[in-house]
Amino acid sequence: MKRGNVFLIGFMGSGKSAVGKKLAAGLGLPFIDTDREIAKTAGCSITALFRRCGEDDFRRREAASVARACRKSKTVVSVGGGAVLRRENIAAMRRAGTVVYLQAPLAVLRRRVGAGGSRPLWGQAGRLYALRLPLYNRAAHFRVRAGEGSPAAVARRIAGRLS
Ligand code: S3P
Repeated sequence: MKRGNVFLIGFMGSGKSAVGKKLAAGLGLPFIDTDREIAKTAGCSITALFRRCGEDDFRRREAASVARACRKSKTVVSVGGGAVLRRENIAAMRRAGTVVYLQAPLAVLRRRVGAGGSRPLWGQAGRLYALRLPLYNRAAHFRVRAGEGSPAAVARRIAGRLS
């Protein structure tokens, strides 16, 4: 099927990276995290990148990182919560594999993320959550409950749907 990649999308704190690692291990596939790639290429943290270069610059880097990930085959990819803001990212991911939405209620995400830590946009979580919900739903081939259960349990839910 297509390139056989699996893309995990969802709001900050939905567990994309933790679930992605478990899913990749379970399927015996490599795992990449676009935020980690962006930070590595920039040579600084995502927070520092936002501070120094702004969100627009981050989104350009994110689009490039998503495009790179889409050229892989049989890879599990977790992308940042805002990757769905660009239509081109969604179209590229859907062409390159299966897009899975890790869906969790905002109250659960707030409990998990706490004060925001390394997430520069967390202060606007309420507004962004409402804005992005329809984007996640539209972008995904299917969604799984990610507000309850361990990352391994969520990964098993996804694996069950993929097979
Ligand atoms: C963002 C989410 C973050 C990171 C950046 C912007 C967003 O990734 O890409 O801080 O706009 O929702 P996570 O979803 O992995 O926290």
